[in-house]
Amino acid sequence: MSILKDKNILLGITAGIAAYKSASLVRLFIKSGANVKVVMTPASKDFITPLTLSTLSKNPVYSSFVDEEDDNEVWNNHVDLGLWADIFIIAPATANTMAKMANGVCDNILLATYLSAKCPVYFAPAMDLDMYKHASTKASFDKLTSYGNKLIPAGTGELASGLVGEGRLAEPEDIVSFIEKDILNQLPLKDKPILITAGPTYEALDPVRFIGNHSSGKMGFEIANAAANLGAQVILVTGPTHQKTTHSHIDVKPVTSAEDMYIEVHKHFKSSDIAILSAAVADYRPKTVANQKIKKKDSTFSIELEKTKDILKSLGEIKSNQFLVGFALETNNELKHAKGKLKSKNLDLIVLNSLQDKGAGFGVSTNKVTFITSAGDVIENELKSKAEVAKDLMQQILKQLDA
Ligand code: CTP
Repeated sequence: MSILKDKNILLGITAGIAAYKSASLVRLFIKSGANVKVVMTPASKDFITPLTLSTLSKNPVYSSFVDEEDDNEVWNNHVDLGLWADIFIIAPATANTMAKMANGVCDNILLATYLSAKCPVYFAPAMDLDMYKHASTKASFDKLTSYGNKLIPAGTGELASGLVGEGRLAEPEDIVSFIEKDILNQLPLKDKPILITAGPTYEALDPVRFIGNHSSGKMGFEIANAAANLGAQVILVTGPTHQKTTHSHIDVKPVTSAEDMYIEVHKHFKSSDIAILSAAVADYRPKTVANQKIKKKDSTFSIELEKTKDILKSLGEIKSNQFLVGFALETNNELKHAKGKLKSKNLDLIVLNSLQDKGAGFGVSTNKVTFITSAGDVIENELKSKAEVAKDLMQQILKQLDA
């Protein structure tokens, strides 16, 4: 999965012959799962049509401040466009547009959007070799990069003039991978090993029966996803679940019972920086497991249970520098119980789920959680999708690690 998935990418196109490559660039961004909008300088429409770009990007294309629609004038809001963007990439960037960007000139919608954007800005120049080498072009590069914009260098090869040299727009595939790599390099958890548990555990009674619970594993998988999207290398130890992930930064370790989970978690804990235990681990298991299927006999049947190992507690006892997060699912006296677990299990953070909250807990795609930190802060959150809760949790962890 590309790091660009679900990102809002604004592509700015200026008037150079390389604008024909913008169509491929839009396709590649769309294929990587991004949302794409295009803003063009008026002159760039001589090189590629807005119709091509709006069809490929599945969005309207903006080239002027005002459009005419059914005799009504519609104002294209460059501020909204700038704020919508997670990434603004100007490709091709002509010498003219770069000079204007470098000097705050604002005489078209692309330039106004550039001045409004708060997101990272990339620019990929394209021009003839002598223009590329010119001192004023270099001065534009220097100014633009000094503002924090990122230069995607032009390639060398045959140019539209027939001359051979530096100035070709970087190939669309190279532009995409430049941006992907740049984003990955800046992720706050880049290459940090993180251990996560998810799902239920099944405690065998005989070869065909077990004691389990209704945990779907969704919360843990969303946390793994959120951590991996921040650059972490995730080990996800999960009980039986239908959840799936194809994220290249998530290594799934399937287990069945609490004992299996305990063993797997301890294999990875020492080399982890953060451990988040969201699994609904069985607290008890059958004391004996029958070798053969248990036959029905009497009208009642008792199972003797014994305690499983508390995985979270065992990590709290041995942790050195790891940041340890636990979950608490409570039905009454929620805060008191969660605070008790935070302390007794030596955690840095506990995520409280109250079953009294509608939309929280097992089998639903939403959750309502309260974060309680080891410093005693209590942070309540709204009812959100589990994906959003996972992102909030990762932000909370980053905040505590930064403090
Ligand atoms: N947990 C664990 N190993 C267990 C039981 C629980 O690692 N054998 C972890 C869970 O993954 C969760 C936290 O402990 O992060 C809290 O689980 P919970 O069942 O709410 O708490 P318990 O300590 O088991 O207490 P109780 O069931 O009495 O509320």
